[in-house]
Amino acid sequence: MPNLTTNYLGLDLSSPIIAASSGLTDSIEKLIELEVHGAGAIVLKSLFEEEIIMEMDEQMLAMTSRPYVYPETFDYMDEDPKEDTVRKYLRLIQEAKSAVSIPIIASINCVSAQKWTYFAQEIEKAGADAIEINLFVLPTDMNRTGDENEQIYYDVLKTVKEQVAIPVALKISPYHSNLSNLISRLDEMAVDGVVMFNRFYSPDFDINNLTVTSGQVLSSSDDYKNSLRWTGIMSERLKCSIAGTTGIHTSESIIKHILAGADAVQLASILYKNGPEYIDILNKEIFSWMEKQGFKSLQEFKGKMSQNKSNDPAAFERVQFMKQFRNFVM
Ligand SMILES: Cc1cc2nc3c(=O)[nH]c(=O)nc-3n(C[C@H](O)[C@H](O)[C@H](O)COP(=O)(O)O)c2cc1C
Repeated sequence: MPNLTTNYLGLDLSSPIIAASSGLTDSIEKLIELEVHGAGAIVLKSLFEEEIIMEMDEQMLAMTSRPYVYPETFDYMDEDPKEDTVRKYLRLIQEAKSAVSIPIIASINCVSAQKWTYFAQEIEKAGADAIEINLFVLPTDMNRTGDENEQIYYDVLKTVKEQVAIPVALKISPYHSNLSNLISRLDEMAVDGVVMFNRFYSPDFDINNLTVTSGQVLSSSDDYKNSLRWTGIMSERLKCSIAGTTGIHTSESIIKHILAGADAVQLASILYKNGPEYIDILNKEIFSWMEKQGFKSLQEFKGKMSQNKSNDPAAFERVQFMKQFRNFVM
């Protein structure tokens, strides 16, 4: 009988399907439901760097009128009866660890390697199995170079790795001048996993009222191709784990990612659309496909269609339509 177990960030997962950081992972009730329906792990809703720094500064100012942060800050904070966002987050991690048995990955959304990184230790102390760092700097500052922006990734990873012993994953965007160089440098620095790729909020325009509006919040089922391409290109070149994300809505796109070499996938939009019970269906469909193909474990087909192993490695690097689709007609 096929089994769906996988290893991601050194953690044993019963299924490659991870509930991605989102509003679906911000309470104990939701986490229990996700586990009941077969999620292999859960990434908690992100805590934002600004929230951590704000709480730290407020507490420190209240206690010492000095805006610096010391490791003892959180010990003092425990004495405060008012529960702030940061302590709520730590309590969520602690409660999650007794409420569910699947791995719990805490998530921090940041744009710098500033003083928030001390908080990684608190996350570890609270019992999280791993930390996922969602890092993105929108390159709008014309006075900064690409290298300067990318240095933040290395600084954050280095600082957080120095603080904790639990695995650290980076959730990255595809928007880098040399993505493979960035990922391989992170890998050399012993990142435990890369999550490819984050999906961003994008503004849109309402042309009748001439206002800026919100773009589509949820992904569509065709959005997975970029993650698939890069998983296929990078999987054999890295020591760290890979989780595919964005636009993975079906068992077919999950299987494709594993064929490309992913250890796991992270799902948000389709769980918003279909509810956590959809994970049961996806697990069953992967299981049936494996039975049909004669695969007994994910390891037997993981990476079977990576760029190195594929029958058409050039296809992974083909980007222009011109030559390939010269005679394309509808
Ligand atoms: C409503 C919503 C809230 C999200 N909140 C977070 C978040 O707090 N932190 C984070 O790293 N990603 C967040 N994400 C991104 C998801 O974790 C995921 O990477 C992205 O939506 C792509 O996966 P999908 O196509 O399955 O939705 C959010 C996504 C959605 C749709």
